[in-house]
Amino acid sequence: MSSIKLLGIAGSLRQASTNRGLLRAAQSVLPSGASLEIADLLDVPFYNADLKEIPESVKRIARQAQDAQGFVFACTEYNYSMAPALKNILDWLSRLPDTPVLNDKPAALMGAGGGMGTSRAQYHLRQTCVFLNIHPLNKPEVFSNAFAGGFDEQGNLTDQKITGLLTEQMAALINVIKQKA
Ligand SMILES: Cc1cc2nc3c(=O)[nH]c(=O)nc-3n(C[C@H](O)[C@H](O)[C@H](O)COP(=O)(O)O)c2cc1C
Repeated sequence: MSSIKLLGIAGSLRQASTNRGLLRAAQSVLPSGASLEIADLLDVPFYNADLKEIPESVKRIARQAQDAQGFVFACTEYNYSMAPALKNILDWLSRLPDTPVLNDKPAALMGAGGGMGTSRAQYHLRQTCVFLNIHPLNKPEVFSNAFAGGFDEQGNLTDQKITGLLTEQMAALINVIKQKA
């Protein structure tokens, strides 16, 4: 049975997302004893403080986040910053009454995009992590090109170099979690 749980969140909603492909690749290279669930953001509405009830979709992801000892963020980049779907769920999770589901947990950051591999967006995400008190790993950084043949048509990762980096990164994340326990 897995003893360490991770939650993966990608910033893209599209079916053949390369960023969700990165999360699936991360699932396949996890050290033994760890598991990674991937959050489904399709039914998450935009954050609105006027909503009287927390939406069921947000409650579902909040439970996954609560159970997780660490996060894996696949940081889709739109217009040089993180895509709204990722920012939106972080905003929701940061506003749950009495439930600090993000606080003081480590995270691995990765992303697939244009030539800069979502590095600009990932650095914005790091800034958001400061306020949320999430601890992103410094190394290895995973910046992958979605347009250079490293993914198949379904968004599955085929690039061996990035697979190697993900292997290293997942091992580093699990080590940090074990050291904290
Ligand atoms: C509105 C929009 C803005 C984008 N801006 C950027 C950008 O600033 N940097 C970048 O690397 N890619 C940018 N892209 C390209 C995305 O990185 C690319 O579509 C990528 O495949 C999206 O991730 P996905 O495969 O997980 O859906 C943009 C795409 C869209 C739709």
